[in-house]
Amino acid sequence: MKIRAKEIDFREVVNFWYKHNKRDLPWRSTKNPYCIWLSEIILQQTRIGQGLPYYVRFIEAFPTVFELANASEQQVLKLWQGLGYYSRARNLHHTAKEIAYQNNGVFPKTSSELKKLKGVGEYTASAIASICYGEAVAVVDGNVYRVLSRFFGVDIPINSTAGIRYFKELAAGVLDLNNPGDYNQAVMEFGAMQCKPKAPLCASCGLQSDCVAYQLQKVEELPVKLKNIKIKKRYFNYIVLLDEVKTILEARTKKDIWQHLYQFPLIESKENLNEEELTKKEDFLNLISGKSYDIRLFNPKVGVHKLSHQHIYAQFWIVELEEPIRDGIERKDILEYPVPILIANFVKDFGF
Ligand code: ADE
Repeated sequence: MKIRAKEIDFREVVNFWYKHNKRDLPWRSTKNPYCIWLSEIILQQTRIGQGLPYYVRFIEAFPTVFELANASEQQVLKLWQGLGYYSRARNLHHTAKEIAYQNNGVFPKTSSELKKLKGVGEYTASAIASICYGEAVAVVDGNVYRVLSRFFGVDIPINSTAGIRYFKELAAGVLDLNNPGDYNQAVMEFGAMQCKPKAPLCASCGLQSDCVAYQLQKVEELPVKLKNIKIKKRYFNYIVLLDEVKTILEARTKKDIWQHLYQFPLIESKENLNEEELTKKEDFLNLISGKSYDIRLFNPKVGVHKLSHQHIYAQFWIVELEEPIRDGIERKDILEYPVPILIANFVKDFGF
């Protein structure tokens, strides 16, 4: 893509804005690839405001890649709890072990080598390579799509094959070759704080006079995204078995959401069940195996837990057993287990 005056202006305005408006964040005062890698993996998952405390807790627990490599999977998942997409945490752990044990703690120094690491895709590799090593590769994340689509007035859907290719080229064309790391962060930060998805701050924006979307009053319409995902509804019945001191938690072993996290025994159904329907189910009878019990529904008003492709309707059934639970875990230890946020909220509300 040829460099024209418009692109140069864009770059200069964004760089200037960043210099004066960037947030002071711990990973902005280092080029240590471990810190940058960790921050970028977390920020793939959430916005900076929510991600910052996770980053601080990870660095405190694992100051270098060696401590992260030596941690148990349960410890890593527990620290990740609440961020979602738990395979990212497992990939993070896997890659830490690879770097620590097979590479003496040294990260690869180019984006193409970085991309070979588990959990490091195009975006993360470009971010690490540009920030740590000054490699001239453009980062394209949701913020970048938004800023570029608005400024250049591009309405090709950002999640179409053509859109992905177009924006990658456009981003490469406006990249600041002299300072790619800061520039990449500048566009992302500009997207997060100024050119926001809702109510962008156009009135105070230095790009206003050249912004195609602003001039054509199309700011709210851009970027364009194809909506083709079908949301699946799922109905979960968690069976919270209790005796005086214990409960039962199981690991989720199947290839499904929340794999490797823990949960109360789960009975999935086609719709919300009432007590009679639940207690007739074979899975429930197997779980109880003839013991006498008291049952009540903890949350008669069932809330919906929204994931990107699934809506989960969860009912928590409190089942008190007269006989002691033989296996299972001590109730007081429950906070040590990594669980989906849905269950963490229940544990808090129930007052385990
Ligand atoms: N979003 C993800 N990574 C970022 C970074 N390094 N700077 C600003 N926003 C980001």
